[in-house]
Amino acid sequence: MELYEAIYMRQSIGKVRPDPLPRALIEKLLDAGAQAPNHYKVRPWRFVVLTDSARERLGEVMAESFRARFPQVSEEALEKERAKPLRAPVIIAVGVEKPAEPKVDEIENLCAAAAACQNILLAAQAEGLGAIWRTGDAARDPKVKAFLGFAPDQHLIGLLYIGYPAQTPVKPQRPSFEDRTVWM
Ligand SMILES: Cc1cc2nc3c(=O)[nH]c(=O)nc-3n(C[C@H](O)[C@H](O)[C@H](O)COP(=O)(O)O)c2cc1C
Repeated sequence: MELYEAIYMRQSIGKVRPDPLPRALIEKLLDAGAQAPNHYKVRPWRFVVLTDSARERLGEVMAESFRARFPQVSEEALEKERAKPLRAPVIIAVGVEKPAEPKVDEIENLCAAAAACQNILLAAQAEGLGAIWRTGDAARDPKVKAFLGFAPDQHLIGLLYIGYPAQTPVKPQRPSFEDRTVWM
């Protein structure tokens, strides 16, 4: 797929089929992520790939965290939270490494990891996959971070849900750049 086609056709696709993705295809997406620009070449992105029962275990942790945040929550709401990671066969959690040296800026590491996320989304688009970048309270929850191997003060910037799209995507209509641009 041509680059501009991937850029213009990329869209958040929440409904995907449960069919598993070949590992080689997931690795192709991760490798695209790892091509992102990053200052001082620190490669600050940390990818955690969840498939199969790992998604169920994430759902358990998300439900427990949800209960801890809202102790009065109903069983129905907990079940909904527990099922969230099952919405796609693959989830790539993207965390950000904290700067190890004073010259490295935390925001720059965040920018680089976000660029890696976008690379993954564009690669997914080019591969005919459907993907959505999700965050929400769960991504900020220390228990969820711990389950994924991240420290409480590390940023978990995205849970990228990926699978084969359940519907044929149509070209999104988006506002232009013009009202967000000044020429000097
Ligand atoms: C940092 C970030 C976090 C996001 N978190 C969520 C989320 O939690 N739930 C969701 O439905 N979409 C989430 N999105 C996707 C946006 O809602 C989506 O990109 C936006 O609606 C524009 O639609 P498009 O991706 O189809 O262009 C997130 C996007 C970004 C960049």
